[in-house]
Amino acid sequence: MKPRRPLLPLHSTLREAYDSSAFRAFGHDLVDRLADHLEDSVGRQRPSSYPVGTPQEELAFWKAFMARSGSREEAIQAVLERSNQLHDPRYMGHQVAVPFPQEAMLGALTDLLNNGQAIYEMGPTNATLEHLLLNQVGQALGLAEECGGVLCHGGTLGNLVALLAAQRKLGLRLDQDPWRHGIRQSDPFVVLVSQQAHYCVDRAVRIMGWGPDAVVLVNTDANHRMDVADLAHQARKQRKEGRQLLAVVGCACTTSTGAYDPLQDIAEWAQGEDVWFHVDGAHGAPAGFSDTHKHLVRGMSLADSVVLDFHKVCGLPALLTGVLYRDGLESFLPFVQEAEYLWERADGQDWWDTGKRTFECTKRMLSTRLATAMFDGGLDKWGHLVDRLWSLAEVFADEVESRPAWELAMAPQANIVCFRPSVAVPDDHLLTRLRARHLKDGASYVVATRLNGEAWLRCTFMNPLTEREDMQTMLDEFECWMAQD
Ligand SMILES: Cc1ncc(COP(=O)(O)O)c(C=O)c1O
Repeated sequence: MKPRRPLLPLHSTLREAYDSSAFRAFGHDLVDRLADHLEDSVGRQRPSSYPVGTPQEELAFWKAFMARSGSREEAIQAVLERSNQLHDPRYMGHQVAVPFPQEAMLGALTDLLNNGQAIYEMGPTNATLEHLLLNQVGQALGLAEECGGVLCHGGTLGNLVALLAAQRKLGLRLDQDPWRHGIRQSDPFVVLVSQQAHYCVDRAVRIMGWGPDAVVLVNTDANHRMDVADLAHQARKQRKEGRQLLAVVGCACTTSTGAYDPLQDIAEWAQGEDVWFHVDGAHGAPAGFSDTHKHLVRGMSLADSVVLDFHKVCGLPALLTGVLYRDGLESFLPFVQEAEYLWERADGQDWWDTGKRTFECTKRMLSTRLATAMFDGGLDKWGHLVDRLWSLAEVFADEVESRPAWELAMAPQANIVCFRPSVAVPDDHLLTRLRARHLKDGASYVVATRLNGEAWLRCTFMNPLTEREDMQTMLDEFECWMAQD
């Protein structure tokens, strides 16, 4: 008889790792630390909302930390102190949500349960909530009753998935299913998109294999919105040269200036031409939750697909992106994956096996994160958040215009404002010097960008706790450095 092998005893570190009393004590301590941190951030108690040094300084800090084998508690404290302080109202930099603190806490719920999701049995609540909530969100944005979609990790991935759906629909119509036969370079597809689109559209098209020329950039007007006459012109040109129109992508809104493309006009053009209309609403689609600002996304309800990042203007922690389809069944277009260990039929349109419709196999409990937000007044709260953030941008634009030392790139359409010192000749070097000083000595945080080849400063108002005085102090600081320059 074969001898039975002894079972390796459970190592004490593993036993301790799963101990519920230790977990409770650790959790209480962590909550206290996070609440203290939040209090300090919201109360502007730190010298700066951007406490970070140069990459070299940060590298040196963590190398030294690792060399002396710093503890987990010390690491938590260092991360709290050295990270960007998004809850500090003086942070006006990047387009990341300032998470509603209780939503952040719910990360512990989903991380502990860890019901990763590809098929129903891996995450039954996830799959069901995802199915129901994406229909609800879609309808709240005006999409048809039969709308639906999937959640994924980030707008970059979401835009790629939506464009894959568009590609396959066109491919099937032309009897060249890209999923089964690959793409046919001899019959090229192109995507039409504004010059101001986020780079992930270009990246998606290259990943799909169509190359850099397959992204056809459409001109924009003085307010950085797509020029629909040029769209029609570019489309005619592409067709004449033998290319197929895979999709037109509307920006709602653009990353650099927050400009909303004329979605209604694009939708009507796309319907007339039988072209897939995708809206990259990663940043600005939540305007549709606001009674005051929903006019900005008029026409989005006619899109074939829409991407919305809940981790931008919906106050939820990253990453949490919705890919919505006007016809929910079209979410099955991008992938037809055989996977006998997971599901029986590749082409079965079962809403409960989300892995059939997403890039991800395992994914985080994204729909639980969305559900807890939505069951806590989500749609209304998001509308109020949009109203406040958009109002901050308007107030800041007024402040910039009231100061002779400054100029605006354009009147804001969303919560993004580009501005710069009003010197006769735009001086990129001045801006570089000012921004370096801002990073080193400033209490606030804004970023830099380039528009039509020229350097600008850029604010994105993501924190509803920012006040008029915060913006004034930021401009005062810059003016002081300009005087010293
Ligand atoms: C308009 C737009 N689309 C897509 C993205 C990419 O989204 P993510 O960072 O979630 O991948 C961004 C990010 O800022 C964006 O502003």
